[in-house]
Amino acid sequence: MNDSTPRTLWITGGGSGMGRAIARVAAGNGWAVAVSGRRREVLDEVVEEIAADGGTALAVPLDVRDSAAVAGAARTVVERFGGLDALVLAAGQNTPQRRWDDQSITEFEEIVGTNLTAVAATVDAALPALREEGGTVVAISSYAGWSLQPGAGVAYSASKTAVSSLMRTLNLQEAAHGVRACHLCPGDVATDFLDQRPNVPDAAARSKMLTPQDIARTVSFVLESPAHVRIDELVISPVSQA
Ligand SMILES: NC(=O)c1ccc[n+]([C@@H]2O[C@H](COP(=O)([O-])OP(=O)(O)OC[C@H]3O[C@@H](n4cnc5c(N)ncnc54)[C@H](OP(=O)(O)O)[C@@H]3O)[C@@H](O)[C@H]2O)c1
Repeated sequence: MNDSTPRTLWITGGGSGMGRAIARVAAGNGWAVAVSGRRREVLDEVVEEIAADGGTALAVPLDVRDSAAVAGAARTVVERFGGLDALVLAAGQNTPQRRWDDQSITEFEEIVGTNLTAVAATVDAALPALREEGGTVVAISSYAGWSLQPGAGVAYSASKTAVSSLMRTLNLQEAAHGVRACHLCPGDVATDFLDQRPNVPDAAARSKMLTPQDIARTVSFVLESPAHVRIDELVISPVSQA
C-alpha cells in the first residue's frame, strides 16, 4: 500500500456498541473501515453515518461462527480496500443462564464459538493481509478475561480468558511480520450487551459505567501507536467497578 492509500480497519461487531464507536472514531482519523455483524441494517447505518462525515466505510454482514463466511468476508475487505492494516474483534455473546446450575451446553458452545473460536477464525482469515502491512489486532475481551468475575458466567469467563492466549501466541509467533496484538479488557460499558445479564442494570447504574466512546478512544490509542510499540494488554474500568 502506498502512502496516499488510507489505512484499513475491519471490525467484527461493528454495527453496535463499542464496535460502532470504534468505527466512527477510526473513520474520523482517516481509516477506511469495514464493519461486520449479523444485522445488515445496523451495519448500513454505520456506513451511512461515516459517509455523511466524509469517511469511507463498507458493510460486510456475516455470522462470525461461520468460518467460511469469515474467510469470504476477509477476501472482500482486502479486495475492496486493497489490503488490511488492522482488525478489531468486538463480536461477542453471553446469556442470562450463565451458572453451572442453569446453563445449557448448547448455549455454552454458542458463546465459546462466538467469543473464542470465531476470534481465531477471523484472525486466521485476516492474517495473510495483516502480515503484508505489519498489522494490528485488538481483541475486545473483558474484565472477565483478565480476572475471575463471579457474575460473568461459566462459558463467558472461559472464552474470554482464552482470548488472552490467542493474543499472546499471535504476538509470539507473528512479531517477525510486524504483527502486534492487544488483549483489551473492559469492565462495565453501557451498551445493549448488558441486556443479557440476569439482572439488567437500570439507567442510574449505566450512567456510572464506561461509554463506548471511552473504549473507542482506547482502541485509537493502540491503533495509532508507532509501529514498533506493542500494547500487549490493557484493562480499563469505570472508577465504580466492583
Ligand atoms: N458491555 C460490557 O459491559 C462489556 C464489557 C466487557 C467486554 N464486552 C465485550 O465487548 C464486545 C462488544 O460488546 P458491546 O458491549 O459493544 O455490545 P453489543 O453492542 O451487543 O455488541 C456485540 C456485537 O457482537 C455482534 N455479534 C454477536 N454475535 C455475533 C455473531 N454470531 N456474528 C457476528 N456478530 C455477532 C453483534 O452484532 P449482531 O447482533 O448484528 O450480529 C453486536 O454488534 C463483546 O465481545 C463483549 O463481550 C462488553
